[in-house]
Amino acid sequence: MNVLVTGGAGYIGSHTCLELLQAGYEITVVDNLVNSNVESLRRVQELAGKSLIFEQVDLLDHSALEQVFRRQRFDAVIHFAALKAPAESVARPLAYYHNNLTGTLILLERMAQFGVKDLVYSSSAAVYGDAERVPVSEDAPCKPPNPYARTKWMCEMILQDVHAADPQWNIIVLRYFNPVGAHPSGRIGENPLGIPNNVMPVISQTAIGRLPELKIFGNDYPTPDGTGVRDYIHVLDLAQGHLKALEKLSTRPGFEIYNLGNHRGYSVLELVAAFERVSGRKIPYRFVERRPGDIAISFADAAKANRELGWRGERDLEQMCADVWRWQLNNPEGYPEA
Ligand code: UD1
Repeated sequence: MNVLVTGGAGYIGSHTCLELLQAGYEITVVDNLVNSNVESLRRVQELAGKSLIFEQVDLLDHSALEQVFRRQRFDAVIHFAALKAPAESVARPLAYYHNNLTGTLILLERMAQFGVKDLVYSSSAAVYGDAERVPVSEDAPCKPPNPYARTKWMCEMILQDVHAADPQWNIIVLRYFNPVGAHPSGRIGENPLGIPNNVMPVISQTAIGRLPELKIFGNDYPTPDGTGVRDYIHVLDLAQGHLKALEKLSTRPGFEIYNLGNHRGYSVLELVAAFERVSGRKIPYRFVERRPGDIAISFADAAKANRELGWRGERDLEQMCADVWRWQLNNPEGYPEA
């Protein structure tokens, strides 16, 4: 089976590419490398002992993307490529709407043109916003709180409409909770450009001394220790979720949405404690104001993915921290520049 992976050089994309190669899929990656590094794919191929095809193509480049579809016949597409920083999206909404919506539309047009109608779409628990109830299930109302989250939600609606107009399309939307972790080899992992936004890379960069301290955004949330609670999920579990979704596509499911999370929340302080245990390093931290747009607590009801995809997260918080720490120790500055 030949799969086109957009954004395959990124964090979740690269781990998914490795799982795909190991499972015997043939893959072509298209990535514009604005927020990723082709070194990840070199290492993916080294780890798998198999090769993939890489095309440095921006989805907004209609004709370059058309050439990719002309060169070979794909059975399915996994679409990761997107801009993904919520705070940046508030400052640069047009960039986010243009890139994430138009990129998806152009991809869908090419898929339709070449008769490729099986798609796994990378969405986010960000679409729920501040959910009324936890655990959050797929039928909870969506209240995306920022332009980034709105692009994910709008793409979901576009996909639903595409399927409604032509039921030949099979589309699985995966809503990820908080992806963390790295491949246990320590060869591939998350490689944020500049100062990271997400808590796990801030913790690991603090542990290694690249950042002076972790600023904890708020200790007065209505949670057991006052800090925000999230459902952290190992990136390899997420990657395996994509393989399960591809298998599901072969049963022609139509349009389906699945949460991928562990049904269990940890606070920032619990995460810090776990990371300290695993790394043996002290993480200096300080409480500061809440971050605008943050919510108190979020964790997934992932029963649907368990029931219908046969998927569940296998790796616990200790393993997530241990794998991040190995990646950080082996690659203190991230991937070397190409
Ligand atoms: C963020 C995004 C979300 C995106 C997800 C995955 C926001 C508001 N939401 O989720 O849209 O889908 O990443 O990329 O940005 N924290 C600190 N100090 C830090 C960083 C974070 O205390 O330096 C806390 C946060 O307040 C939160 C928890 O750590 O309680 C997790 O934060 P983060 O890793 O940024 O993820 P989310 O905000 O859940």
